[in-house]
Amino acid sequence: MVARVIPVEPFDLVVFGATGDLARRKILPSLFRRFAEGQMPPGARVIGAARSTLTADTFRDHIAAALDEHLGGAAPDRDAVASFLQRLDYVALDAGDETGWRALAARMRPDVVQAHYFSVAPPLFADLAAGLDRHGLNRPDTRVVVEKPFGHDLGSARALNAMLAGHFDESQVYRIDHYLGKETVQNLMAVRFANILFEPLWNARFVDHVQITVAETVGVEGRGGYYDASGAMRDMVQNHLMQLLCLIAMEPPHRFEPDAVRDEKLKVIRALDPVRPEDIVRGQYRAAGGVKSFAEEVENPESRTESYIALRVGVSSWRWKGTPFYLRTGKRLRARASEIAVTFRDPPHSIFGEDAPWRANVLVIRLQPDEGMTLRVMIKEPGPGGMRLKDVALDMSFAEALGGEMHIPDAYERLIMDVIRGNQTLFMRGDEVEAAWAWTDPVIAGWEARGDRPHPYDPGSTGPEDALMLMHRDGRRWREIR
Ligand code: BG6
Repeated sequence: MVARVIPVEPFDLVVFGATGDLARRKILPSLFRRFAEGQMPPGARVIGAARSTLTADTFRDHIAAALDEHLGGAAPDRDAVASFLQRLDYVALDAGDETGWRALAARMRPDVVQAHYFSVAPPLFADLAAGLDRHGLNRPDTRVVVEKPFGHDLGSARALNAMLAGHFDESQVYRIDHYLGKETVQNLMAVRFANILFEPLWNARFVDHVQITVAETVGVEGRGGYYDASGAMRDMVQNHLMQLLCLIAMEPPHRFEPDAVRDEKLKVIRALDPVRPEDIVRGQYRAAGGVKSFAEEVENPESRTESYIALRVGVSSWRWKGTPFYLRTGKRLRARASEIAVTFRDPPHSIFGEDAPWRANVLVIRLQPDEGMTLRVMIKEPGPGGMRLKDVALDMSFAEALGGEMHIPDAYERLIMDVIRGNQTLFMRGDEVEAAWAWTDPVIAGWEARGDRPHPYDPGSTGPEDALMLMHRDGRRWREIR
């Protein structure tokens, strides 16, 4: 099956921070893929902006190297790369200096969609917003894309929202959480709301518990300073895992439209219970097998920052009261494996006798790798000899189901094209981010006040032992990370 590609309107997309890591690793490679798929029309251009004094040609060479390094898979078609590079331009711009801004303003075309991607450190956002205003680059239909971290806590997120609101209407602001652009995450909404099968069972009466796991094998990858000040709670739970929880727990929006979806997610965040201290396990990887410890990687021997966290979260709503959501995420774990597992309750009565082996039905949605879905069901083992029950997996890999060759797009491909289309459904609204911080802040303040230290765990393991207890205590088990 070939993906249907609908070209977007011609656009000028300015990428501030165009020589930075995110631009090289994600933004430009994603734009290239969309270009190669035919989604960028002839009038679409990408203008890199950064402080380095580069010519447009040097910038193109720089991006050509980034594509080689980060596209992955088969070598890209040389002609396609050459034509893509012709769509790139570059402006040397220091946010505080007018020369660069004037050069940028002169470059922008009035008759196309204009979008500005702030792929820079958050302290620069205000200067960029002000610069756009001063130079007539903030039209009512201009879009700005704001990367995470969106604040460090509720106060800073509010300040950031207020700053943005001083320049832009909310409809112009695209706050990225790249998890929302992942194909399987969007599929979660399709599975829930395009089928009748699951929704009647999707509540505390039938769902025993939900596990959300985002396991990574990488460490802090050269971002020690940022990560040591953030930790897994701020870096992953407040945004990515929270968004996954929202999509699982939210009520059906009346339409798949930005505010309808975001209103429902907001209600979930507001319904989250405060987390009790005994429902939090934090971990930090130690040195082992030639891998540096977290403290060494972030160059802070005293660090109490968590590189792993597991939480038991309650949702106080009619639908979910009584069904715990267990969240866990960590770095340097055994495998890169992210999934959502919805475990259903046991049937009320076993007609096969009390001794019949029993496994609960589980619906697993795999985010990565091998995006897909598995439903575990009980069947009868074939053959004579009585009614022997067995649980089997109805397994579907999206790539296979959709025809082997299909490339599953990177989250950024979808999200950047949505910005150009003017569709905010998969972006976070200001109030949503603030509500997420309002829930997160007291959790962090709690462990800081208690002086808790994270539990050590070995790189390549499944996290600290204590995280197992979080489940055992409730008579449940984590799913394997493999
Ligand atoms: C980022 C975090 O937002 O998400 C990183 O800052 C993390 O620490 C990354 O590694 C994980 O993203 P993905 O798409 O690889 O699961």
